[in-house]
Amino acid sequence: MSKPYYVTTPIYYINDVPHVGHAYTTFAADTLARFYRARGRDAFFLTGTDENSQKTVEAAQAAGRPIGAFTNSMSKRWRETWQQLGIDFSRFIRTTEDEHRQAVEKFLKKLEAAGAIHKGVYEGWYCEGCEEFKRDEDLLPGGFCRLHPNRKAKRLSEENYFFALSRYAQPLLEHYSRHPDFVQPTERRNEVRRFVEGGLSDLSISRPGKSWGIPLPLDPTHRVYVWVDALINYLTGVGFASSDRMPYWPADVHLIGKDILKFHAVIWPAMLMAAGIELPRAVVAHGFFTIEGQKISKSLGNAIDPLVLADKYGSDALRYFLLREIPFGSDGDFSEAKLKERYTGDLSNGYGNLLSRVSTMVAQYLDGKVTGKPGNELRDSVAALESELEVAVGRYRFSDALEAAWRFIARLDRKIQETKPWEMAKTGKSDQLVHVLSELHFGVTRLTELLTPFLPEAVAKALPVLTAKKVVKLPPLFPRIE
Ligand code: MSP
Repeated sequence: MSKPYYVTTPIYYINDVPHVGHAYTTFAADTLARFYRARGRDAFFLTGTDENSQKTVEAAQAAGRPIGAFTNSMSKRWRETWQQLGIDFSRFIRTTEDEHRQAVEKFLKKLEAAGAIHKGVYEGWYCEGCEEFKRDEDLLPGGFCRLHPNRKAKRLSEENYFFALSRYAQPLLEHYSRHPDFVQPTERRNEVRRFVEGGLSDLSISRPGKSWGIPLPLDPTHRVYVWVDALINYLTGVGFASSDRMPYWPADVHLIGKDILKFHAVIWPAMLMAAGIELPRAVVAHGFFTIEGQKISKSLGNAIDPLVLADKYGSDALRYFLLREIPFGSDGDFSEAKLKERYTGDLSNGYGNLLSRVSTMVAQYLDGKVTGKPGNELRDSVAALESELEVAVGRYRFSDALEAAWRFIARLDRKIQETKPWEMAKTGKSDQLVHVLSELHFGVTRLTELLTPFLPEAVAKALPVLTAKKVVKLPPLFPRIE
């Protein structure tokens, strides 16, 4: 029996609300989980919220709300957004949960027992926007962070506990060599390699004198550095607090944006090595996208709420667009005009139209009863599509998978054009008509099954109609907009 499948998204900061960039990662993870479930594998999908950040404290203050009430309502907003977008997560984790605190304590005790924690003085910069320690060369003149140009990095000189990250440079390089798929795509793997080859310094993993965050077990006057706390969520989510035996671990893939590569491909595997826990199989980073050419940002006010788009086009269409338009791994640009174009071209006039034409003809000309068997050629091309999807999804090439499916749609459309079943029907229900429509019905039904992970809502409506004893005309699944 193969190990059950386990996929994660980053856990999202709750000082912000969900935008299409976050929806992108989450749709991709959901699609993977659904893809393997559809193939009979037990798949566990973890997502959630990262709440122990200093940014949470600031955001709660800015909102004038007690922190507990603030975190509860923000986390709820994230959770409900995903639910409304048809995201079928197995567990939604919050880092303020008791179970997570226990997991973090347990993990840190393992690090301590392995002699991988020591006390020292941290002298340097810290950007609270990134929640990250910075080197001089990471900052702009005047001490401003490159990623948060309106936030001055703080100069810190404080006693901290450190994780012996420097010890793991060599083991990490060996791991990357032995497991070429550990960091994907290749460009990102090279970036990580170069970074580690430059040498690693020990990592400060605690902050003194803070009142928010998880207390460090060996010195509760310190709070655990938020990234160390956050990364451990991937273990908490599959039961680490109560047992070292975790049937879902190791994760098959941590899906992330390229902005948080170093944490996932350097710090996290080093932490796991030190704790003696198996490493995830892959860390796959996608690109970043802009909105109509501009960086998504609160101050520009261009952060599009994915629910607004889903209300207008449906969540399937948003998922389809994001996965189809931007090759996973590359940067891209989001615009509603492009979404609308794909909605109309690929979904309304493409797949949607094919479904209604085939169901209508089967209902009209065959009285809804499919009696013929598909020929070998068609069976072969369905099998070919199936393996193309398997390969593309296995390499996180969602856009390739969808392109292959749409080539198959074009093929079925051509078949309709060439055979003209409506002409055949004029002379009654011939064997030839039964054959052609049975083939079309077979093609559309198998295609619909294969599209389950990509268009879950449409498939849930279409499949029962296509596979019923008596097929009826399907209502338009992607009605024209405006
Ligand atoms: N809390 C950390 C992650 C901890 S994981 C142990 C964090 N959160 S975040 O909310 O700021 O961002 C999470 C992820 O959202 C990014 O890594 C990325 O996957 C996604 N994106 C945020 N903005 C995005 C774009 N503009 N474009 C594409 N993805 C984006 O970092």
